[in-house]
Amino acid sequence: MRKRIVAGNWKMNTNIEQAVRLAQDIKAQYDNLAVDVVLCPPFTNLYAVHRVIQGTPIWLGAQDLYWEENGAYTGQVSAGMLTAVGCQSVIIGHSERRQFFGETDVSVNKKIKKALEYKLTPIVCVGETLEEREAAETETVVEKQMKGALSGLSAADAAKLVIAYEPVWAIGTGKVATPEQAQVVHRFIRTFLAELYSRELADAIRIQYGGSMKPENAAELLAQPDIDGGLIGGASLKADSFLRIVNA
Ligand code: 13P
Repeated sequence: MRKRIVAGNWKMNTNIEQAVRLAQDIKAQYDNLAVDVVLCPPFTNLYAVHRVIQGTPIWLGAQDLYWEENGAYTGQVSAGMLTAVGCQSVIIGHSERRQFFGETDVSVNKKIKKALEYKLTPIVCVGETLEEREAAETETVVEKQMKGALSGLSAADAAKLVIAYEPVWAIGTGKVATPEQAQVVHRFIRTFLAELYSRELADAIRIQYGGSMKPENAAELLAQPDIDGGLIGGASLKADSFLRIVNA
């Protein structure tokens, strides 16, 4: 039985004060230990949030990393820097990074390898755009992203990943994939993993859904057999709505 995992991607939101308050509110009300919970604030608030949640089962996650150890890479943050501020996890390959910041399958792969080297759990995002879905290319696109992400990864390493299926057209649009639409792609990803590695590995990996997940639609999405949690944007910015998803 896969343990559910719900992550809040705060994106470019919250100042330190707001981040601390949000983390405190979540910590105060989180009692559903059957679900893993990850908070992913902006880099500038990681340490402050770490101070709030350290010693609790809540994980700290970053929203990106760079694969080099250190050096002349203005604006970048390394895996070692993330573990030093208390991170256990990191989002890699979010569609917003692919769309706006030149993230490619190759960079995603390098970031995954570096994250694993530092024992950070990568949350690897894949998903198609509206045009790709309408052209019936969803599976081709997701397979290409998965292949790129997993290139050169051993089964032992692949087993440490969390995958997030985030249809780009459902992100921040209020347009949510139907539970059936999401389930089809989640099943496709699991079958792909079974073929690439093994059935055991595929059955153990957690696949989150992301894209306008809210308290109102979480339960029916999470009732699907291959949906193991959520990667939540907008609805993770309020403790109440985030925890209602966790409890769904
Ligand atoms: P929304 O929940 O705001 O649609 O964002 C989803 C997302 O991109 C999480 O990473």
